[in-house]
Amino acid sequence: MCGIVGYIGPRKAQDVLLKGLSRLEYRGYDSAGIAAISSHAVEMVKRKGKLKVLYEELETHPIKGNVGIGHTRWATHGVPSDANAHPHLDCKARLAVVHNGIIENYSELKDGLIKEGHKFRSETDTEVISHLIEKFYHGNLEAAVHKAARLLKGTYAIAVIHKDEPDKVVGARLDSPLIVGVGKGENFLASDATAVLDYTKNVIYLDNNQVITITRNKVTVKEMSGRTVRKPVTRLKWDVSQAEKGGYSHFMLKEIFEQGDILAKILDERIKGQKIVFEQLKIRGVALKKFKRAAIVACGTAYHAGLAGKYMIEELVKMPCWTDTSSEFRYRDPIVDKDTLVIIVSQSGETADSLAALREAKKKGATVVSICNVLGSSIARESDGVIYTHAGPEIAVASTKAYTAQLAIFYLFTLYLAALRKTIPNSRYAYLLKELKKVPALAQQLLSEYKSEYNSLAAYAQEFKRYYIKQHNKSYFLYLGRNINYPNALEGALKLKEIAYISAEGYPAGEMKHGPIALIDENPWVVCIATQSATYDKMLSNIQEIKARNGIIIAVATEGDKELIHQNINYIIEIPKIDELFSPLLVAIPLQLLAYYVSKEFGHDIDQPRNLAKSVTVE
Ligand code: G6P
Repeated sequence: MCGIVGYIGPRKAQDVLLKGLSRLEYRGYDSAGIAAISSHAVEMVKRKGKLKVLYEELETHPIKGNVGIGHTRWATHGVPSDANAHPHLDCKARLAVVHNGIIENYSELKDGLIKEGHKFRSETDTEVISHLIEKFYHGNLEAAVHKAARLLKGTYAIAVIHKDEPDKVVGARLDSPLIVGVGKGENFLASDATAVLDYTKNVIYLDNNQVITITRNKVTVKEMSGRTVRKPVTRLKWDVSQAEKGGYSHFMLKEIFEQGDILAKILDERIKGQKIVFEQLKIRGVALKKFKRAAIVACGTAYHAGLAGKYMIEELVKMPCWTDTSSEFRYRDPIVDKDTLVIIVSQSGETADSLAALREAKKKGATVVSICNVLGSSIARESDGVIYTHAGPEIAVASTKAYTAQLAIFYLFTLYLAALRKTIPNSRYAYLLKELKKVPALAQQLLSEYKSEYNSLAAYAQEFKRYYIKQHNKSYFLYLGRNINYPNALEGALKLKEIAYISAEGYPAGEMKHGPIALIDENPWVVCIATQSATYDKMLSNIQEIKARNGIIIAVATEGDKELIHQNINYIIEIPKIDELFSPLLVAIPLQLLAYYVSKEFGHDIDQPRNLAKSVTVE
């Protein structure tokens, strides 16, 4: 939900800001803009459309200066337009502001400011911030930002420049992420660390209600009270190449192909001999033994990983567990208390609903463990314990590697709890650990089948498009799965909706006869997850029921399955043999690739699908 960046140093601000925005574009991409201080004036260019429109404009009309701010937008208040794009200026164009978040009391503030004579140029909530800072500015930008911030209700991460103080960028945050990139003779502000990775790996994570001033050589963080706080500098392990496409045509494809290595790394980090370790969890074994129930809370893809987590916890830890979407959890009165372990799953660690759910759970006395990918994110910091997925930056809006990394962490964590609470026999624990260790190599083997761009999934996608046109655009997808692969049915459908804009529904296969079967004629393509499992025969019956009604079937099967061949199935996707419990890690991969190829066939923007944003930091 919008990306912001700020820079001060010896480089051309325009170049640094554009580079930073290109790394943050996943956060929103309906308009973009930058402003810099040049010859004691604020120069600004902003344009509706993707970042490349701004690039083109700046090529012909570059902005000078070494101090500036930039923004890439995902519209909340006001349609995408040049006027609503950020930065936003004050009345006299002395200062410029970029903002990520929502100012809930903006209309009240705006009315007051208009009465005082301020002239507004946009329909955004953000513009009130520019005028408030203008109102409070008496030669000290930091003081004016402090005063303005105290009046804002809602969420914000802002960066501000002022022509009369060309030696600084001032920022502030409340519930929207903001980090400082600490360089040598230069400093940066950004919504997340990927925006500064090209220049520095040293970052400072800001907390709520903090105001930050960066100059070329100094970083000053103050509380709202004006008290200066010392903040630790974290050295990131991420590499800039991880935030680049590395020869792949899309980030999504690159991230799908990274999954074998990531899974290997995750297991390697956590499995020591026969033991699973969570050294930095900060929640002691004695406490983990006592919980009576678990609740898993998340949004989107992370929610699907959480649904699979519930199957794992119940099967291995024998503890009652439920999974909820964050937006539902936070607005009802969930039954969580000190005996409940709440697990929040979030790639970004910044999703507004998940953060609110975390706070709700803590308020009710629960212990919260989060599974996050982004280091130092809000959810990670506010949890009692955090388990990082260490999947590296995920840039494509559609989540892939973060999903399998979350699943892998769930397997490890549940096995860890099972050993601690002695809920499975040692022999089963040893067998499962052995099976789990096979997964990275099997994922790698599976991926290698799709290395060439002319692979079977690309061909199925081509067939689908032909069929779709023949059926006058009425064709769509249904995904059916059972048990621990039911979440994969939901995730497969979500991927297709997100990037291919094809209607798709995920369903537990056993529920088919309670509704979705009414949809089946010659139009739908039904993806049946029919890998070897305790419910395999049931899935074969589902397949027959679909065939009897002329549905087209793509079956995901365990390699070497001879029985499926006799089922008259249209297309088969094989995955390597593995214990049923771990099959979701392998099943997920071809489903991601299928969505990718269908989207590609239809010529959509795979990495930046319409209307979506990677990190939803607003409600
Ligand atoms: C957005 C993204 C999804 C993601 C979801 C939750 O909707 O487009 O890909 O799964 O947010 O994000 P989180 O960062 O909390 O995992």
